Amino acid sequence: MSTQIRTVVVLGSGTMGSQIAAVAALAGYTTALVDIKQEQLDRAREQLTARLDRDVEKGRRQRADVDAAWERLTLTTDRDAVAAEADLVIEAAVEDLTIKRTIFAELDEVCPEHTLLVTNSSNIVSSRVADATGRPDRVCNLHFFNPALVMQCVEIVPHEGTDPQTVERMVAFVESLGKTPVRLQREIPGFVANRLLNALRREAVELYEAGVADFKDIDLAARTALGHPMGPFELMDLVGIDVVYLIRLAEHEQTGDADALPSRSITEKYEAGEYGRKTGRGWYEYPRP
Ligand code: CAA
Repeated sequence: MSTQIRTVVVLGSGTMGSQIAAVAALAGYTTALVDIKQEQLDRAREQLTARLDRDVEKGRRQRADVDAAWERLTLTTDRDAVAAEADLVIEAAVEDLTIKRTIFAELDEVCPEHTLLVTNSSNIVSSRVADATGRPDRVCNLHFFNPALVMQCVEIVPHEGTDPQTVERMVAFVESLGKTPVRLQREIPGFVANRLLNALRREAVELYEAGVADFKDIDLAARTALGHPMGPFELMDLVGIDVVYLIRLAEHEQTGDADALPSRSITEKYEAGEYGRKTGRGWYEYPRP
């Protein structure tokens, strides 16, 4: 059985998937970024080009490294063709259990036997998709943070049936990306970093909804008193209010905990389609989404 990872496939070319694919390609992996929509792939190419060109301009990366990464990166709608060659598939599609289970079952059919199938989800733990495959020992969560090109941490979360060797391979993979692996001993929705973040976000939204302070002032406090790079409301706009909303729903669905449900103001923004940076308006306004 091949244990060397050479070829990586990332499913879903949204904010997370596209940057994860870029990280893998920059680290030397032959990488494919897959989406069902060509327009989404075109947008991902445009955004990655702008981002990586800016990194070159600012002297953060060498032009030759970025060009070589583009040589290694394929953007395609033909999932099964690239999955058939993959050593590792990272699923970064929509946070919907039914869709993820279908994807994992289909991947299990087309991928070689040795291929590791991991999900970037932070709320849908991998035991919930592993049993849709015939290889639960090669399934776990591999959770990147937004923006994936920048943030160091990647959480590695096995389910009960994950082979310890799969975990070791993911630790080595994360290190090869130049990132920092954080291992969890067992599954819990949200994992570690997002649970810390959720506690802060919940309190911030409660303070805002109770009229204690404006959201801008709560952000200001987080930045200037706690040294956070951005406040909880700015961060919601970066991550996407739709993502925050759907994560809360998924957590509620998994735990039955009424406290997990999205709060009033987040639900209002979600229903109004005000998702943050990507739609031009969330808590703040963005002239160029
Ligand atoms: N994509 C890629 N790179 C980005 C970026 C993006 N969206 N935004 C910023 N950067 C990089 C760029 O290199 C940028 O430099 P340029 O503007 O010169 O190109 C550099 O970061 C600095 O950016 P800014 O000057 O705009 O602002 P900053 O110094 O505050 O840094 C930040 C931006 C790195 C995002 C920083 O604010 C930060 O670390 N914020 C916290 C992010 C965070 O908490 N992420 C975790 C979210 S939770 C999550 O992801 C979990 C989940 O499951 C969804």
